[in-house]
Amino acid sequence: MQEQLELLIKEAEQEIDNCSGVNDILNAKAKYLGKKSMLNGFYGKMKELDAEQRPAFGDQLNSVRKQIETLLSARSKAIQESNWEKSRVDFDPSMPGISLRRGGYHPLSIIRRQIDEVFISLGFEIAEANEIEDEFHNFDALNTPKDHPSRNLADTFYVDGGMLLRTQTSPVQIRVMEKHKPPIRIISPGRCYRNDKPDPSHSPVFHQVEALVVDKGISMADLQDTLQNFASIMFGSKVKSRIRPHFFPFTEPSAEMDISCVSCGGKGCRVCKQSGWLEMGGAGMVDPAVFDILNIDSEIYTGFAFGLGIERIAMLKYNIPDMRILFENDLRMLRQFRGEL
Ligand code: DAH
Repeated sequence: MQEQLELLIKEAEQEIDNCSGVNDILNAKAKYLGKKSMLNGFYGKMKELDAEQRPAFGDQLNSVRKQIETLLSARSKAIQESNWEKSRVDFDPSMPGISLRRGGYHPLSIIRRQIDEVFISLGFEIAEANEIEDEFHNFDALNTPKDHPSRNLADTFYVDGGMLLRTQTSPVQIRVMEKHKPPIRIISPGRCYRNDKPDPSHSPVFHQVEALVVDKGISMADLQDTLQNFASIMFGSKVKSRIRPHFFPFTEPSAEMDISCVSCGGKGCRVCKQSGWLEMGGAGMVDPAVFDILNIDSEIYTGFAFGLGIERIAMLKYNIPDMRILFENDLRMLRQFRGEL
């Protein structure tokens, strides 16, 4: 038995020495100290001995057990230390850290918020309405004839139930006038949809900001004044503005709004196609026919309205040459136009 115990220690010593991980240690522990271990078997043999031999044998077994435990814990500590050493070698504190990429606002969001702020500072409130509209609000109430080409399937996206994706923010005018009596002074920025092929200056989804002012004594001069204020705050005090005659079914008279080219200052360049002016959107005095539909007395009240293209403004502010960049959302591109809010 003595010999067997010595052999056991030798074998355990060798095996524990070869342990290279926590699992090996656990296996060795089970094998040499566990219930089914040889050592445990020896404890069982104690009752075969004479009573006076038992204490000495017991001491011997306990000492073998202690030795094996010591071997296991020493090896286990050594493994831990070598793992720690290894991980220390892999960690180089002089390497640059992994920088976290900061998220940013989309250029269209930044510009939209700037536009909001400009108009809020001019005393406007912000109105919002649905992007899915009915024909009444998008066309009929805006005095648009039944056979107007903009109602074509080729131009307008229709959805189920006689509804459509609004082609302009102008229906918000109607929704506001349905609910509120003058004085009214609102803007409404939002998404619009038209069945246009994407190209450098078109996108089937785009953004407009609608403005509507209705009160007693509102005139074309107020429209011009508001446009000039907007242009000065948004693009700088040197920028001039003008309106030119145009036609829209829901305004009379109607106009198109221009600002002097922000790139060349009006001398003529590639951005303004040598004209010195940049088109900003449509405008006009609210047509009395629209007031009639909404039961607003056009003998008492007058109003002006306009619609600006947000993409146009963003492209000018950020020097973006192609509208598609704003919708493809390639982060490598958008990162270049990240601004501060
Ligand atoms: N809704 C027009 C468009 O999409 C733009 C416009 C023109 C808006 C005249 C207006 C306006 O409010 O008075 O082309």
